[in-house]
Amino acid sequence: MAHEVTGVIARGKGAEVEITRVLVPDPGPGEALVRVQACGVCHTDLHYREGGIGDDFPYLLGHEASGLVEAVGPDVTGLEAGDFVILNWRAVCGQCRACARGRPWYCFATHNATQKMTLADGTALSPALGIGAFVEKTLVAAGQCTKVDPRIRPEVAGLLGCGVMAGLGAALNTGQVGRGDSVAVIGCGGVGNAAVLGARLAGARKIIAIDVDGRKLEWAREFGATDVINSRDADPVEGIRELTEGNGADVVIEAVGRPETYTQAFYGRDLAGTVVLVGVPTPEMRLELPLLDVFGRGGSLKSSWYGDCLPSRDFPMLVDLHLQGRLPLDKFVSETIALDQVEAAFAKMERGEVLRSVVVL
Ligand SMILES: NC(=O)c1ccc[n+]([C@@H]2O[C@H](COP(=O)([O-])OP(=O)(O)OC[C@H]3O[C@@H](n4cnc5c(N)ncnc54)[C@H](O)[C@@H]3O)[C@@H](O)[C@H]2O)c1
Ligand SMILES: [Zn+2]
Ligand SMILES: [Zn+2]
Repeated sequence: MAHEVTGVIARGKGAEVEITRVLVPDPGPGEALVRVQACGVCHTDLHYREGGIGDDFPYLLGHEASGLVEAVGPDVTGLEAGDFVILNWRAVCGQCRACARGRPWYCFATHNATQKMTLADGTALSPALGIGAFVEKTLVAAGQCTKVDPRIRPEVAGLLGCGVMAGLGAALNTGQVGRGDSVAVIGCGGVGNAAVLGARLAGARKIIAIDVDGRKLEWAREFGATDVINSRDADPVEGIRELTEGNGADVVIEAVGRPETYTQAFYGRDLAGTVVLVGVPTPEMRLELPLLDVFGRGGSLKSSWYGDCLPSRDFPMLVDLHLQGRLPLDKFVSETIALDQVEAAFAKMERGEVLRSVVVL
């Protein structure tokens, strides 16, 4: 039996999103049907709509979600109807060469539901990041569901499913920020400000937030930035150096996804420091750097896939820290909206008015 529900799709490159009927199959082997309760609007959804990620239209957008398991496939264990879960877009396989070496957060064979959700006419949908959650019910792989304490509000929990986890993890996992480090974060949207929060959680002693939008920088201060630089008015590399005795930061996190901000990150870090790229570039972007500088400045240049998180390890822990009042994840929720306001939320995101708009169903 297919479930007929309402969802938000992107039909073609650059076209405004549409609300439409979506058919969701009952869960088969290895799958779970989830009644979505909340789903944040992430910049990656906008990248999809703009054709920046692929050409597999129509996309079922939304991927930062939490909800209640409604049914599971016949062979699924450890998950049952009624469980409150955060969806993740990297369900680890347990068998690939990364998993086999004990590094499951790098899993090279992450998986999604096998069956397709479709439009009423049978056209298969491509779910954003293998989730698709701007929809009343979604079908995912059971491994994409992580059970967490249901006392957290759904619109807060869902954010751990993508942007906030990506930012926290860029600092905590990929950047390995430690007590006493200096950290700079370039681009302080939902992802960058989560990196600011992660740096604070890790005990960084200096946290420099950089953005071209003053509002984002005010929020960054609330999340723990010790200094801010508006890179519309000042050179961020100079600014980082001035704030770090001329040296540069130990870890610089790029959360925009552009060659110019990556270059700023590269030159804004101390010798032997770490650059973490968590912003997602588009296919036509190119980076040019003197190879001698890549060698001479040493250290490591890393990319952060989903904050190198392990959902089973990180989601319950971060939810607990939040419930104990030690991680103000609720501050990322700028507004809650309905499904038909996703297009308006993209516009607000582009105007810099929100950290996260969250669809509540
Ligand atoms: N690596 C991952 O796993 C992962 C996960 C989620 C999102 N992302 C990516 O992270 C990036 C940020 O996502 P978001 O949801 O926070 O987006 P966002 O639009 O909310 O934030 C982007 C921020 O960058 C700022 N910015 C733009 N140009 C700038 C510049 N030249 N210098 C400094 N700041 C600048 C904007 O003012 C804004 O505050 C996106 O590329 C998104 O696709 C990556
Ligand atoms: Zn694997
Ligand atoms: Zn996202």
